Amino acid sequence: VKIDIIGAPTAFGQPKLGVSLGPDAVRFSGLEENLKSLGHDVSDLGNVYGNYKTVYRKDNVKDGQGLINFDEVRDFSEHLSQAVDNTLKNKRFPFVIGGDHSLSIGSVSAVSHHYSNLGVLWIDAHGDINSSDTSPSGNIHGMPLGVLLGEGNEALVNINHKGAKLKHENIVLVGVRDLDAGEKAYIKKHGIKCYTMSDVARLGLDTVITKALKHLQECDGIHLSLDVDSLDPMEMPGTGTKVDGGIFLSDMLLALNILSKTEQLVSADLVEVNPLLDNRNKTAVKAVTLAEYIFGQSQI
Ligand code: ARG
Ligand code: MN
Ligand code: MN
Ligand code: MN
Repeated sequence: VKIDIIGAPTAFGQPKLGVSLGPDAVRFSGLEENLKSLGHDVSDLGNVYGNYKTVYRKDNVKDGQGLINFDEVRDFSEHLSQAVDNTLKNKRFPFVIGGDHSLSIGSVSAVSHHYSNLGVLWIDAHGDINSSDTSPSGNIHGMPLGVLLGEGNEALVNINHKGAKLKHENIVLVGVRDLDAGEKAYIKKHGIKCYTMSDVARLGLDTVITKALKHLQECDGIHLSLDVDSLDPMEMPGTGTKVDGGIFLSDMLLALNILSKTEQLVSADLVEVNPLLDNRNKTAVKAVTLAEYIFGQSQI
């Protein structure tokens, strides 16, 4: 695979300091070298920055719509979407390393401009399907899917190009175990495919991923958005919104191996690595292992 690594060090989507260091922690754990040694053509494009002097704020201020750091998130999203657009124009695979999950507004908005029937596989402890209307926290990292579906604040909905970027039927949530009331109602209302942690426990993650891919089989491309908090906090302590009872690394690697075999995978995000909350960098090291399995071993 021809991979462009794009660092997206935004922390504007949530209040905990340190997630902006995620891209470098993953780089320093061997991301580029390890992917190259698997036979991939890898280029690290460095980090994307917006027009603001920092990629975090210590005073997380709500605006009139209850959105925290709205101007910064919008600005960062536009810049990231441009970087992802360029990578796709160059016929390369954008692999975006976060940074908090608000970055997916920028990445997926760009990808959806190139794939009109884009599917999204969202592996996360959370739904991230709030909007400015439903979010209990105001943290935009809890809203990317809502935004991409056209909900809430219009400026965010219109990042990269106007309007909703995804269809409800083209999304599959996997590993979910912490949904807000508004998210549950939204998922039910729109019949969004959702494999909770109980489904994963009952069926096995390999079966869940196979079913998810079947659900997305008509899509002209699939974007993977992998939040490291989908894994169990014992595996991944270095992340800002930990929820017990998560996926174990061995199961995740098996599932990613299945995913790596589909020709449909066109782009991916790996998000929410926070080195300041980590235990001796083990979350970043495991994130590199996840990356290796996303792309699989080259056949030649
Ligand atoms: N549902 C909560 C919220 O809206 C938590 C979201 C956590 N998101 C994440 N990407 N870790 O604030
Ligand atoms: Mn575009
Ligand atoms: Mn999450
Ligand atoms: Mn998330």
